Amino acid sequence: MLDKVDHKTRQLDAFGTDVAEGLSRVRKTLPSRWLYDDRGSELFEAITVLEEYYPTRTETAILREHADEIAGFVGGSAVLLEYGAGAGIKTEILIEALETPRLYVPIDIAGDFLELTAERIRQRFPHVEVWPVVGDFTSDFEIPDGVQRAKRAAFFPGSTIGNLDGAETAAFLRRVRRHVGAKGTAIIGLDLRKDIDTLLAAYDDREGVTAEFNLNLLARINRELGGDFQLDRFRHEARWNETASAVEMHLVSTVAQRAEVDGRVYTFAEGETIHTESSRKYDTDIFGEIARRNGWTPGPIWTDAERRFAVFGLAATQGETR
Ligand code: AVJ
Repeated sequence: MLDKVDHKTRQLDAFGTDVAEGLSRVRKTLPSRWLYDDRGSELFEAITVLEEYYPTRTETAILREHADEIAGFVGGSAVLLEYGAGAGIKTEILIEALETPRLYVPIDIAGDFLELTAERIRQRFPHVEVWPVVGDFTSDFEIPDGVQRAKRAAFFPGSTIGNLDGAETAAFLRRVRRHVGAKGTAIIGLDLRKDIDTLLAAYDDREGVTAEFNLNLLARINRELGGDFQLDRFRHEARWNETASAVEMHLVSTVAQRAEVDGRVYTFAEGETIHTESSRKYDTDIFGEIARRNGWTPGPIWTDAERRFAVFGLAATQGETR
């Protein structure tokens, strides 16, 4: 219980620090992880079933279609580590296909959510042991000693890796390589480059759900940090950044204005933006290269007929750490 209170206080501190830091920059920015409070997670769930948002249904279809091959690549009696638990149906498809997985280890920063995921998997797969681990996959953490070292497989679906920048992606791949050890594998979902109209529509749907998801970040600052942002004076925008090969979400100030958070005043020029998320879109060969440089040997790539989304199989490169 105390732990939970501690966690909440630490989170609020970190949020406040990130907001103060991000809004003080010449190019204002906020880390995308703050988009996911309860309301934000609910809105993201609504995004995943939108007509324009193809990634979730495409990845789910790929996992279904190639479940046996993916399970074959991972091998029998594996320990499955999932980074950012709660992908729900995707996890179930993989566990279902795996031959007698020994253990499922969901890893997430949100303890409550983690427990729910753990309970759901225990119910659905009574023969699979579940060991939830509280951890932030964007920073260093260790897998508990009790988790068997034998054949570990990392699962990172949803193209969440696309939210990481170059340095973070490299660090993440190395960390996961350390976690799974020399006989380990990884199954990673990533969104692929495609025509810009399709990409932008996926991040700016007609119903305005993505706009609400983005604007909820300002609402969250108002709720949790006592900010006075006027939400009707900002609008959502999705932009393609060719250099970064990423769709960016921005909150555009529609007028010259100021907002106060925790005693600090931030000024916005008309048209000035807060950059709230980057969603990187990969070429399969570029991702293969990045994986290679960070401890992995690229294996099979499973994709859909239109090559919208890819599920990458990676094997730990021999002769590196452990
Ligand atoms: C869950 C982070 C992968 O980047 O596509 C959806 C989040 N943002 N619409 C993505 C998101 C706007 C999503 N990820």
